[in-house]
Amino acid sequence: MSTILIKNGTVLTASDRYDADVYVEDGRVAAIGRALPMSAAEVIDATGRIVMPGGIDVHTHLDMPFGGTVSADDFHTGHVAAACGGTTSHIDFATQTPGRGLYHALDEWHAKAQGKAVIDYGFHMIVRDLNPDVYAEITRLAAHDGVTSFKLFMAYRGVLMVDDGTIFRVMQQARDCGGMICMHAENGDAIDALVAQARARGDLAPKFHARTRPPQCEGEATGRALALAAVAGVPIYIVHVTCEDAIAQIRQARDRGQAAYGETCTQYFFCSEADYERPGFEGAKYVMSPPLRAAWHQERLWHAVRPNDLQAVSTDHCPFGFEQPPQKQLGRDDFSKIPNGAPGIEDRLLMLWDGGVNTGRISANRFVELVATNPAKLFGLWPAKGTVAIGADADLLVWDPARRHTISAKTHHMNVDYNLYEGRTVTGAPVAVLSRGDVIVRDGRFVGRAGRGRFLKRLPGAPGLA
Ligand code: URP
Ligand code: ZN
Ligand code: ZN
Repeated sequence: MSTILIKNGTVLTASDRYDADVYVEDGRVAAIGRALPMSAAEVIDATGRIVMPGGIDVHTHLDMPFGGTVSADDFHTGHVAAACGGTTSHIDFATQTPGRGLYHALDEWHAKAQGKAVIDYGFHMIVRDLNPDVYAEITRLAAHDGVTSFKLFMAYRGVLMVDDGTIFRVMQQARDCGGMICMHAENGDAIDALVAQARARGDLAPKFHARTRPPQCEGEATGRALALAAVAGVPIYIVHVTCEDAIAQIRQARDRGQAAYGETCTQYFFCSEADYERPGFEGAKYVMSPPLRAAWHQERLWHAVRPNDLQAVSTDHCPFGFEQPPQKQLGRDDFSKIPNGAPGIEDRLLMLWDGGVNTGRISANRFVELVATNPAKLFGLWPAKGTVAIGADADLLVWDPARRHTISAKTHHMNVDYNLYEGRTVTGAPVAVLSRGDVIVRDGRFVGRAGRGRFLKRLPGAPGLA
């Protein structure tokens, strides 16, 4: 029997905050209480520290072929980085190859994680090609294989985009098997027209990425996705919401009583379209879709996560090297060829605690809800994950709210040569990270083992959230 006693900490969940010891037995929380009498193989002193659930990042792209290259973190480097930043579970996107079945993609993604995974992981399935087998595969994936969420793209024509007919039919099938739809909502055709016009004018610098993907295109697609989901009667989760145009659509749908949910991502709180104006080609580091917005949208995002217009904060971690590896350079002469995506899996909790909790924008309880509890409830991982409770997995952070840390590509663990938040000193960081009772980060240093991470077989019927 393996045992750990975390003594004298302050337990923090989405709803509570109290002083208690946490006793872990064989990977699960076995007791919580004041001055617990158990002895344990390891005792962690959490005096002055917070004990909270590990972060759950439900939007990542590890080892993903995209933009003419492959995202730079695999299931090992990405997991080490996630763990060091306090994330103990994530859900990645398996991507269907057109002409092939969904199980081919599932096998591919299982193989990517095999022997490398450090933290626990699940998969959403990206549907690109609705061939006749796919309907039954959706049902089987949800019922038997733990893949209960299906991602669709309304942009990137010729790559990931599907038409409204495909979207609607996948929605109906997902509804029938207790699944959830995840949607990348941007009007791809309008964007493609704007991109073609910008290129024809010779407007090729990174800043034209943002100018050719205006917020209205995100708002329109979000409204369309929500309307289709309402007709199909399926729960829908809008990924990477960036702007008031999209927030308003989600808020209205929720006010109508629709099972509509949304996330934003860390970078949209802290970076803005001004970052595209950085000297030389530096703006390419910030090329992601949807793009960074005018700074005033940031306050709208804070305003949306506070009262539950948006329910989660993820990363959309999709890293491409700037010079090492030279992936962003693919678009040096043409912004439309810059691989879309940015690193962030390591920085989410650090940035959100410092920029959200320390500034009073969100409470510490809401922080836990946004980074762990709601993601777990939305995607069928709760109550095993996403909270500190007896019987739950001991995915725990011993968080030092006074620890100062300067974020930098020189010290981060992500496999890229830049960091969106380079040089920012944050206050609050994990000193120990436990995954199912194994200490995988100690004194801020990674001590986990490749291959220990487990696939999270999720049950249909989420979200367990209003
Ligand atoms: O720019 C992004 N977001 N890259 C990853 C793919 C996606 O759209 O989520
Ligand atoms: Zn997307
Ligand atoms: Zn994404």
